[in-house]
Amino acid sequence: MLLAGMAGAAYAAGDPVNGKKIFMRCAICHSVQPGKNMLGPSLAGIVGKPSASAPGFAYSSAMKSANIKWTPDKLDKYLLSPAKMVPGNRMAFAGLPNATDRADVIAYLAKPAP
Ligand code: HEC
Repeated sequence: MLLAGMAGAAYAAGDPVNGKKIFMRCAICHSVQPGKNMLGPSLAGIVGKPSASAPGFAYSSAMKSANIKWTPDKLDKYLLSPAKMVPGNRMAFAGLPNATDRADVIAYLAKPAP
């Protein structure tokens, strides 16, 4: 990969087009449309946003008190193991073990491909 080895940021090499495919696994619970909460909160503009800030979504108390800024780095940790990063949170998802999958889905979340 071209950007591998550059200043730490694996996600910088993420492929939003493949990320859109990975997002199919999230899409049963999440939308990237602003204000569209499903079983999970809307992920519109999530990269760089504070945790638990989607209007109108009833977050768990674990997520409400997590106090995370969703940088690509933090998203990477969360998506590797949601239960480990935010113990007690309600996202029923085991995680994405593959680092490329995580980088790609984060790239998609940063810039949803049409
Ligand atoms: C089975 C449903 C489900 C699936 C699948 C799922 N999520 Fe979630 N997600 C949730 C729920 C519910 C929450 C809220 C958790 C809470 O309040 O404890 C959440 C929270 C989140 C948050 C924090 C949002 C915020 O506003 O702070 C992110 C980021 C996230 N999910 C990303 C993803 C991604 C990316 C995927 C796919 C790789 C995914 N989720 C798959 C249900 C799901």
